[in-house]
Amino acid sequence: MGKKIFIALSLLAALGAGISLPHSEARAASIKGKHGSEGLGCADCHKTDKPTAAAGVEACLECHGGYDQMAARTKAMHNNPHDSHLGRMGCLKCHRVHTPSEYLCLECHSDFEFKDK
Ligand code: HEC
Ligand code: HEC
Ligand code: HEC
Ligand code: HEC
Repeated sequence: MGKKIFIALSLLAALGAGISLPHSEARAASIKGKHGSEGLGCADCHKTDKPTAAAGVEACLECHGGYDQMAARTKAMHNNPHDSHLGRMGCLKCHRVHTPSEYLCLECHSDFEFKDK
């Protein structure tokens, strides 16, 4: 709680003040989680300092390795999201960088407690 409401209120305040935020810039204005706190720059993922479209999954693989590496990293989870009965999927099927992730598994397993860092 709290954070979402705060963001919503900030946006309302910005709009109320007559500042218009195009949709894509509003989303890109923040880099959530560790990517933000580790100080990643736009070009680390987008290959340009002035991105206008989504980044590709290649960037994720460059830094995090491929699926084998991710499956090994999270192998202690009984419901390992990187090695499940769904097989292997592109990172962006679940993870987001500027908005909350949408963990596909939760569509069926509402009891799994997956959370963004
Ligand atoms: C860790 C990788 C990463 C970094 C760093 C990053 N982006 Fe992104 N960006 C993405 C991905 C992945 C998407 C696709 C949507 C999402 O995941 O939120 C995206 C989407 C976007 C979009 C399209 C948004 C839309 O509405 O479709 C813009 C514009 C953008 N980023 C700008 C930026 C800017 C500006 C920065 C630097 C301040 C930045 N990004 C940093 C990965 C990154
Ligand atoms: C320039 C290197 C770099 C790129 C590119 C990158 N990451 Fe990361 N990522 C990191 C670092 C550093 C951390 C923090 C240490 C860690 O958890 O490995 C991190 C952490 C994460 C985390 C866990 C922490 C959190 O905040 O959620 C996820 C999930 C993640 N990255 C997914 C992605 C995805 C998906 C992409 C592609 C859009 C991506 N990363 C691109 C470097 C990168
Ligand atoms: C089917 C959904 C899904 C896909 C696809 C996926 N992930 Fe994840 N990922 C998750 C979930 C769920 C977590 C755990 C979140 C939590 O800690 O509750 C996670 C955690 C992570 C973490 C943090 C691990 C840690 O030690 O805390 C990183 C880094 C990461 N993913 C990177 C990736 C990369 C890179 C890819 C693509 C090769 C990828 N993920 C594909 C769902 C997915
Ligand atoms: C389309 C629905 C669906 C999706 C999406 C889905 N599952 Fe499942 N999963 C099932 C069904 C059905 C079963 C078998 C019945 C059961 O045991 O709950 C199952 C069983 C499991 C089990 C063994 C039983 C348990 O609850 O421990 C695990 C672990 C699991 N899934 C993990 C995942 C992970 C991780 C993801 C995301 C990468 C995922 N599933 C996505 C439907 C789904």
